[in-house]
Amino acid sequence: MARITAGVTTSHVPAIGAAIDLEKTDTDYWAPLFAGYKWSKEWIEEEDPDVIVLVYNDHASAFSLEVIPTFAIGCADEFPIADEGFGPRPVPVVQGHPELACHLAQSLILDEFDMTVINQMGVDHGLTVPLSLLFGQPTAWPVRVVPIMVNVIQYPPPTGERCFKLGQAIRRAVESFDQNLNVQVWGTGGMSHQLQGARAGLINQPFDNAFLDNMSADVNALRKIPHIEYLREAGSEGIELVMWLIMRGALGEDVEELFRFYHVPASNTAVGHLVLRPLDARHAS
Ligand code: DHB
Ligand code: FE
Repeated sequence: MARITAGVTTSHVPAIGAAIDLEKTDTDYWAPLFAGYKWSKEWIEEEDPDVIVLVYNDHASAFSLEVIPTFAIGCADEFPIADEGFGPRPVPVVQGHPELACHLAQSLILDEFDMTVINQMGVDHGLTVPLSLLFGQPTAWPVRVVPIMVNVIQYPPPTGERCFKLGQAIRRAVESFDQNLNVQVWGTGGMSHQLQGARAGLINQPFDNAFLDNMSADVNALRKIPHIEYLREAGSEGIELVMWLIMRGALGEDVEELFRFYHVPASNTAVGHLVLRPLDARHAS
């Protein structure tokens, strides 16, 4: 039986990827940010997951305004690195897990979540920067990835509540996969940030810290946050936080916070990072 052993959230700022690729992680600006991921890099080496169900949003790299799936699942053997305007990042191609992905697609669709099945897709900083933060610069990623892409770019994105319920369905799907796999679920994006308009540069530390607290203390409070509140409190790109609720829904009722990091700013964004463990005994590794 496959089982979900942990959840990870992290912001996915593209400049973090550039700092790694251009070997600037030791500079005054970046060193404190990368120090905040040291614990998690050691932790994940020990955990050695087989597969990451990696929830992220595409930033008009693989999709355009012509086709906008709300929820999509990557079922391919592998996912090339998207060119976001400066050439693809110099990181390994992402290896998929087509068997698990197809099982998830079937289970989720029959569970009434209408996933778009993607058999060919480049992946952008939303997916690769979190991998770089946790795994560094390997010649091949030490894990397979099932990408779950969420539209948070073009109105209307899904609600936080819908995302949480998708996470619960992902858990049911993983637990009904008949292979002995150590699966993690990751939610990327956030925290507060706004990249354009009159409020560009907005950061809201009290909102972010309450959100970090409630990922383990009171997730029901987070499930109720409407779009307008994300916009008002966390800026226009703060809506990426709904993807954290997919991860959280997949971990079950109670979780233990193993690690937390919060740092302001990286580029225009407040960076938040959590490592959570499901408390359900069946899931403890
Ligand atoms: C930035 C953050 C993002 O989440 C993103 O997708 C693009 C840019 C930033 O802070 O620069
Ligand atoms: Fe983003």
